[in-house]
Amino acid sequence: MASLPLTEPNQLYIGLMSGTSLDGIDGVLFDAQRLAVTSHVHAPFSPALRDELLALNTPGDNELHRAALAANGVARGYADLVAQLLEATGTRREQVAALGAHGQTVRHRPDGIEGYTTQLLNGALLAEQTGIDVVCDLRSRDIAAGGQGAPLVPAFHRAVFGTEGQDTAVLNLGGISNLSLLFADGRTGGFDCGPANCLMDGWIARHQGKAYDTDGAWAATGRVSPALLATLLAEPFFALPPPRSTGRDLFHLGWLQARLIPGLAPEDVQATLLELSARIVAESLQGQMRGAKSLIACGGGALNGRLMQRLSDLLPGVAVESSAARGLPVDQVEAAAFAWLAMRFKTKRPGNLPAVTGAAGLRVLGALYPG
Ligand SMILES: Nc1ncnc2c1ncn2[C@@H]1O[C@H](COP(=O)(O)OP(=O)(O)OP(=O)(O)O)[C@@H](O)[C@H]1O
Ligand SMILES: [Mg+2]
Repeated sequence: MASLPLTEPNQLYIGLMSGTSLDGIDGVLFDAQRLAVTSHVHAPFSPALRDELLALNTPGDNELHRAALAANGVARGYADLVAQLLEATGTRREQVAALGAHGQTVRHRPDGIEGYTTQLLNGALLAEQTGIDVVCDLRSRDIAAGGQGAPLVPAFHRAVFGTEGQDTAVLNLGGISNLSLLFADGRTGGFDCGPANCLMDGWIARHQGKAYDTDGAWAATGRVSPALLATLLAEPFFALPPPRSTGRDLFHLGWLQARLIPGLAPEDVQATLLELSARIVAESLQGQMRGAKSLIACGGGALNGRLMQRLSDLLPGVAVESSAARGLPVDQVEAAAFAWLAMRFKTKRPGNLPAVTGAAGLRVLGALYPG
């Protein structure tokens, strides 16, 4: 007779996410059986690390050394957050099956035979400091299989937000926006739309010294420039069919600068950027999921009331709501997705959806640094 396991399989995972906005790290303790977050912590990057990570998005001097130091800095920041999560919840590290750690994207060039993506994180250092199995480098395998390596969250969105018999879309408004399409017939789609917060953040930082435009209040003082909006919307990326993914490689202040119309007031540019963020989502959704009745928004941009209002205006017949109304606060969804992906790795199950990323097939994603 086979002996029965003495304990239930370990279902606690930690997810660690730091996205393109470079606003810092979100960490969650995640119960993979209940698909529920038990605890959430956020920590900003130190200004020096943030500046260096931003600088490393652009080719520069002595990158190998600087990237290695930044990867150490990211690992230390992640390890601090893990310690906080364990302490806050009275959890022992032995109770955690694995950490799913995204790392900080500094390059995303998925296309072609030479495709690659780089998330800075010293996984060995994170495993050393936490004593917990680290699953990281979650995007490379999908790219090796011919995919975009992004977005990776649609499978998780399907697991958490999928509603039988109804077309539902899930929208993440991070630095970049991405849509997951959860069709009523069980198919799942997904792709990056384009800039959500990264250009608005950069523009307000330059003109007002603020990290972001709270609730779109500054944008609300300006007027949308139809001419600038048309120029921005002419970017060929927006016309690409899925699969498609993007990042700061394309959408940075230099991209905006090259398209600016002289004489526009800074607040009018901000108003136009907010409109751009809403338009590219609305047009993508209308193009790819005509029957959508519900749009569930998450990511920091879902806290921007003006952006959410413009999405509602542009999408008549679609109920636009926050993921919080479905049980997951907006700043926990992405981190929970990476905890879920770590669970998929540990249980030797695929994390990607070939229909979303364009990969040749289902793949187990990630690389392991044992704790
Ligand atoms: N109250 C708010 N009003 C307006 N914008 C907000 C507010 N709170 C957060 N944000 C925006 O959300 C951003 C952070 O969002 P988030 O952490 O989801 O993005 P991210 O780190 O780029 O993640 P990812 O790349 O994984 O999607 C901030 O940089 C800011 O632009
Ligand atoms: Mg963030």
